[in-house]
Amino acid sequence: MLDLSEQYRSLAEPIRNEIEQVLASQRFILGPKLEEFEQSIASYLGVPHAIGVSSGTDALLAALMALGIGAGDTVLTTAYSFFATAGCVARVGATPRFVDIDPETYNLSPTALKHYIDKFCKRSGGKLLDQNDQPICAIVPSHLFGLCCEMDEIMELAREHHLLVIEDAAQAIGAEYPGPNGAANAGTMGDVGCFSFYPSKNLGAAGDAGLIVCRNDKLAKRLRLCRQHGMEPRYEHHFIGGNFRLDEIQAAILNVKLPHLNGWSAARRAAADIYREEFARSRLTDRIGLPVEPFRSRGLTNHHIYHQYVIRTRQRDELHAHLARREIDTAIYYPLGLHEQECFQYLGYKPGDFPETERAARESLALPIYPEIQPEAQRFVVNAIVEFFK
Ligand SMILES: Cc1ncc(COP(=O)(O)O)c(C=O)c1O
Repeated sequence: MLDLSEQYRSLAEPIRNEIEQVLASQRFILGPKLEEFEQSIASYLGVPHAIGVSSGTDALLAALMALGIGAGDTVLTTAYSFFATAGCVARVGATPRFVDIDPETYNLSPTALKHYIDKFCKRSGGKLLDQNDQPICAIVPSHLFGLCCEMDEIMELAREHHLLVIEDAAQAIGAEYPGPNGAANAGTMGDVGCFSFYPSKNLGAAGDAGLIVCRNDKLAKRLRLCRQHGMEPRYEHHFIGGNFRLDEIQAAILNVKLPHLNGWSAARRAAADIYREEFARSRLTDRIGLPVEPFRSRGLTNHHIYHQYVIRTRQRDELHAHLARREIDTAIYYPLGLHEQECFQYLGYKPGDFPETERAARESLALPIYPEIQPEAQRFVVNAIVEFFK
């Protein structure tokens, strides 16, 4: 699925130098490497505030905590994402309410979101209430597989109903959206954006790491406090936060990697083009669904960053097994909708509630993609898929 060793080989020397500097300084927490990283990633994303944190999960958790979301609040989110997108909402004591996805992009469907609000919610005292009369305070869209959600429509609904928007951009660092004012980066359009630098992400650390970005000065300050138990000065705690700090070694590694990110994203797009050409040549495009590129001709560079290259077929499980027999690794993201997870049974959803999510969970299959993947390897994968459908 993913070979990180070549990327490491090409950057081994500067990475080792950076780590050595941190070790020599013996400054491991909240030091100059993190400051440098926060400044350069803020400038890369075009936001005033970037706050390094310990993981993508902690980015979501800290964002929810700093915004004061908790017990008695409802948060709308997609039924199809990595668990943390909804798990963090539940962890702060709020109630996640799921919304179905767009079957083409796998992202939160603005149409389904509007339908849910119009059909199941009501307004009272300036607040939007869910079907249990609980106030809805935020939307958490997740930019899945490296493609931005339809943010104009989501932001419009958020504005209309006075909802906060916390973008889960864990899989979408650098992905662009054609907004009203030109290209906008994933994570920078809502009130807060959350990123993950888990090693397999497009920008990966050598362990867990994450980031929160925002434009609001007051919120940025609160987020900085939140990653240190709400503490300032030392041992005076204004609110409950956590230990969500990004350490100096991870920041130093990310400093080396960040300048390469756009090149890696371009290489992933080139690999996606090769898959598309090979599938077209093999005449399989009526048997399998390929990733869509809704923003391709919209003047953007990173219209898709192909964190994953996800195809779909009704024979997904058989194809997955066939490729495994050929020693080709593929992955299923995700085999269950969030509403189908055992830990969310208390929310009362039942099978069939989110048909597009459930269909995606049974049909989607991620093929190997990374910047260094060779066209021959991709042809080998496509040929094995052709063989399966013969
Ligand atoms: C969509 C999404 N949200 C949140 C996360 C959580 O990030 P982390 O693994 O860094 O905690 C991930 C990471 O896998 C993710 O893919």
